[in-house]
Amino acid sequence: MADPKKLFIKTYGCQMNVYDSERMAEAMGGSGYEQVKTPEEADLILLNTCHIREKAAEKVYSELGRFKGLKADRPDLKIGVTGCVAQAEGEEIMRRQPLVDLVVGPQAYHRLPEMERQARRGEKVLDTDMPEEDKFEILKSRPKAKRGPTAFLTVQEGCDKFCAFCVVPYTRGAEVSRPVDRILSEARDLVVRGVREITLLGQNVNAYHGAGPDGDVSLARLIWALNEIDGLERIRFTTSHPNDMTDDLIAAHGDCEKLMPYLHLPVQSGSDRILKRMNRSHDRDSYLRLIERIRAARPDILISGDFIVGFPEETDADFEDTMDLIRQVEYGQAFSFKYSPRPGTPAAERAQVDPTVADARLQELQALITRQQRTRQDAMVGQEVGVLFEKPGRRPGQMVGKSDHLHAVHVDDCGASVGELRRVKITESGTNSLGGVLV
Ligand code: SAH
Ligand code: SF4
Ligand code: F3S
Repeated sequence: MADPKKLFIKTYGCQMNVYDSERMAEAMGGSGYEQVKTPEEADLILLNTCHIREKAAEKVYSELGRFKGLKADRPDLKIGVTGCVAQAEGEEIMRRQPLVDLVVGPQAYHRLPEMERQARRGEKVLDTDMPEEDKFEILKSRPKAKRGPTAFLTVQEGCDKFCAFCVVPYTRGAEVSRPVDRILSEARDLVVRGVREITLLGQNVNAYHGAGPDGDVSLARLIWALNEIDGLERIRFTTSHPNDMTDDLIAAHGDCEKLMPYLHLPVQSGSDRILKRMNRSHDRDSYLRLIERIRAARPDILISGDFIVGFPEETDADFEDTMDLIRQVEYGQAFSFKYSPRPGTPAAERAQVDPTVADARLQELQALITRQQRTRQDAMVGQEVGVLFEKPGRRPGQMVGKSDHLHAVHVDDCGASVGELRRVKITESGTNSLGGVLV
């Protein structure tokens, strides 16, 4: 048998890209590729890219530039760009960086094995179609290798919401949900291979409405079906849109034991004027009321969010509304970004906020979020939580894992093994993690 060819994949952007990279590596396994950890060893390099902010997109070109030397030494090396930059820029990528051999968009990567063969014949290949067929169905057979205790599982892709700042509806296409039976069989297969926790993924995961045995199924019903799988201990989902937080999903947070008490619910801004200009289709009040209802169902739930500061026309008063909303919600975690104008999106054409003003706002907002995060983390001390152990820690005998609320937790002289879910009493709160002892 021929030696396996070597594949190096570098992943940028969101968890959906992480999942896609796993599936691409598996697909290329069928063409005789095994994954390696450095580009120097590779016969094929894939950059699975993100287009969400300018910085993310520009990283791709600087990374590609670094491969020049490699390609000069080894003319057989093939280089591909996949993911959202591939979709957004298409052929432009090959024009700007001629060492790229193939470009494939996020809805077409099931064609990757064929495209690799074409590239080996010396062709330049491009596919940014968004075909109707289910790429995951074509990539059906995930190999049966053992794997770690946590996994992502994409259940929904694309977005129909068209927030004025966002490229996702253009790079990932319209909202599509995968059928229930395929998700359940993929989940069962993951559990057989050692997975204990599954995070369901979608750009708008709570808009999920996949085909079930008697019509469409909501995300809540899908979660209840997953809840029945023996050996699966934890269920999470991300990312949700406030407008798709249905009653059954809120109720599941109270009733479904395997559904973890953590919810990422981006709001972007606390100013009604800006939310309108963002085309978010919810307002500040409806968001705050929603958080109240979720907390009524599950009082200890940890709420996480996303914020954009310096959106076009944002005034000091608008920003103050955002700070006020954050004070009211008390986030356990949040991601915040300076607005980045993206080509082709409506907001890119509007009057931009002075970058130094935006920087100052970002710092102020991040300081507040950090304080809230720390307060919430410190409040865990003395409490008992479930921890799913994921790997050995830095110290001998130490194990690290994630709590139900997604806090990192380390336990010394632990005796627990990877994949075990144990009760832990939290005894200390550090900068980025909690410490505890087994109960
Ligand atoms: N589907 C999710 C988020 C997708 S993008 C949602 O609707 O919330 C992840 C985050 O990136 C967004 O929540 C937003 O905060 C940020 N983001 C998106 N476009 C951006 C832009 N042009 N500039 C800065 N941040 C942006
Ligand atoms: Fe982007 Fe808005 Fe869709 Fe989220 S809901 S992916 S922010 S367009
Ligand atoms: Fe980035 Fe595409 Fe995800 S733009 S955030 S990789 S959907």
